[in-house]
Amino acid sequence: MQIQGKTALVSGANGGIGEALVRELLKRGAARIYAAVRKLESAKALTQLDINKIVPVQLDITDEASITAAAAHCRDIDLLFNNAGCNQVTSLMSPTALQAARLEMDINYFGTLAMCQAFAPLLRARGGGLIANVCSIIGLVNLPANGTYCASKAAVHSMIQGIRAELRPQNIQVIGIYPGPVDTAMTAGQDMPKASSLEVAFAICNGVEAGDEYIFPDPMSKEVSAMLAKDSKGVEKQFATYLP
Ligand SMILES: NC(=O)c1ccc[n+]([C@@H]2O[C@H](COP(=O)([O-])OP(=O)(O)OC[C@H]3O[C@@H](n4cnc5c(N)ncnc54)[C@H](OP(=O)(O)O)[C@@H]3O)[C@@H](O)[C@H]2O)c1
Repeated sequence: MQIQGKTALVSGANGGIGEALVRELLKRGAARIYAAVRKLESAKALTQLDINKIVPVQLDITDEASITAAAAHCRDIDLLFNNAGCNQVTSLMSPTALQAARLEMDINYFGTLAMCQAFAPLLRARGGGLIANVCSIIGLVNLPANGTYCASKAAVHSMIQGIRAELRPQNIQVIGIYPGPVDTAMTAGQDMPKASSLEVAFAICNGVEAGDEYIFPDPMSKEVSAMLAKDSKGVEKQFATYLP
């Protein structure tokens, strides 16, 4: 789908990938971008990039009233970027795993699902559109040190497949984005090679414009997805060596 002239909403717009997405959408000529953030003051600097096109919106994706209010305010969207998420960096057998898993499921899975439910009718009323969901390459294979997060992203991946089928007849394209490590607040302090949020946003927008259903926006995610296609058990075994 072309971005030029379209209206988009980006959740978690004050975060690393979210802000980069807003910048890239602006570059590609989006007519309006709703920068959805939990705290409105966190969108202040971003809005200054173009006060005519970037519209801050309060949105907590775990709060039904907040989602309903955002949907009522943003009725003209063509593209929904479900980007908001959290990673508690917790392994499944850690004493805090249940608490972390519940929070991650609440935000990453239930929050994203609630957004799809609230915004799909708006896209349908406009004749169609696109829902892009930021999953993760470790939603396709579990990395034990981030075990609870991976499980929540695996749920997101399954959700993407299900709603893709349900929304296709309504001319709504549902896509999945599966980044590897990206240099944002989420990975701060984790020592590993990371892609920049700007290169990831650039690749995401290329994929959106090319009509891709699966987007692997950085070298590591491309490599892991190719390995998964060839030998998924081998990848699982390799990732199993990265223990907490
Ligand atoms: N960084 C990576 O290596 C990586 C890799 C693969 C996938 N991802 C995914 O990419 C997406 C963006 O992550 P990021 O790396 O840009 O991390 P980030 O800089 O920490 O940004 C996360 C964003 O999500 C928002 N958020 C969290 N809970 C929310 C809620 N309940 N309602 C609304 N917004 C909420 C945060 O808002 P506040 O500022 O208010 O907390 C923040 O804007 C996430 O879905 C993440 O899982 C990241």
